[in-house]
Amino acid sequence: MTDAGVKIGLAPLRAEGLSKSFTGGDGSDLPILTEVDFTIATGEAVAITGASGAGKSTLLNLLGALDRPSAGSVFLGGRAVAGLSDEELAGVRNQHVGFVFQFHHLLREFNALENVMMPALLGGLDMASARQRAQSLLAAVGVDHRASHKPRQLSGGEQQRVAVARALVNEPLVLLADEPSGNLDSETSKRLHDLLFDLREERKLSMIIVTHNPELAVRADRVLTLSAGGLQPAARV
Ligand SMILES: Nc1ncnc2c1ncn2[C@@H]1O[C@H](COP(=O)(O)OP(=O)(O)O)[C@@H](O)[C@H]1O
Ligand SMILES: [Mg+2]
Repeated sequence: MTDAGVKIGLAPLRAEGLSKSFTGGDGSDLPILTEVDFTIATGEAVAITGASGAGKSTLLNLLGALDRPSAGSVFLGGRAVAGLSDEELAGVRNQHVGFVFQFHHLLREFNALENVMMPALLGGLDMASARQRAQSLLAAVGVDHRASHKPRQLSGGEQQRVAVARALVNEPLVLLADEPSGNLDSETSKRLHDLLFDLREERKLSMIIVTHNPELAVRADRVLTLSAGGLQPAARV
C-alpha cells in the first residue's frame, strides 16, 4: 500500500463529497453544504470557523453521524456509515464519536459521575468498570471533587469539563466540539481550551472544534473556514 493509502486507511474520520440540503419554509431546496471533502489524522486538532448560519453545526452533525447527508459519505475508522440503520448508527456514535456542545446537555437528574458513566453503560460496559473509567476521567478533567454534584450545582466551566469527560468515556476515534466555550467567560474558556489541548497531547486525541474564538482556533494544527457550502483553509488567525 502507498503512504497515502496507509494514511487514508488509518484516518479516524473522513468525509467524501458531503452535501446537505434542507427544505425551506416554502418547500424549496436550501443547499447548505456542497461536496465537502475532509480528513483528519490521528492526534490532529482542526478548527472550523465561519459565519453564523454557514453550516458549521450541520457539518459537524454529519461528521459525527448525528445526521445523514443528502449525498456523499462519512467513514469512521475507515468504515462507511452510510448503509447503517438508525440503531447501528447510534451504536457507532456511542463507540466512536465524542460530542461536546455549546451547552452541556448533561442529564439534570444524574450527578456528574453518572453522566460520565452513561455512554459506557449504554455501550455495554459493566457497572464497576464504567464507574472506574468515569472516575478517572473526572480526575483527568479536574472535577473529581464534584463527582456527586448534579449539573445545576456545577459552574459553567465545570459542566463543560464533565461534558468533555462524558465525550471521552468510550475512547472515541474523534472528539467533535461545537462552540465548546461559546457560553463561558474568557478566563474559563482559556482553561477549557488548555484542557482540550492537554488531552490531545496525552491521548493522541483527534479533535474537530467549531469556534468563533480566535484564541482557540490559533491553537489548532489546521484552521478551515466554511463558507458558500465549502471548506477552505483559513488565512492564519
Ligand atoms: N433542520 C433544519 N431544517 C432547515 N434548515 C436548517 C436546519 N438545520 C439548519 N438549517 C439551516 O441551515 C443553515 C446552517 O445552519 P447551522 O449548521 O446551524 O449553521 P452554523 O452552525 O454555521 O451557525 C442555517 O441557515 C439554518 O437555518
Ligand atoms: Mg452552529
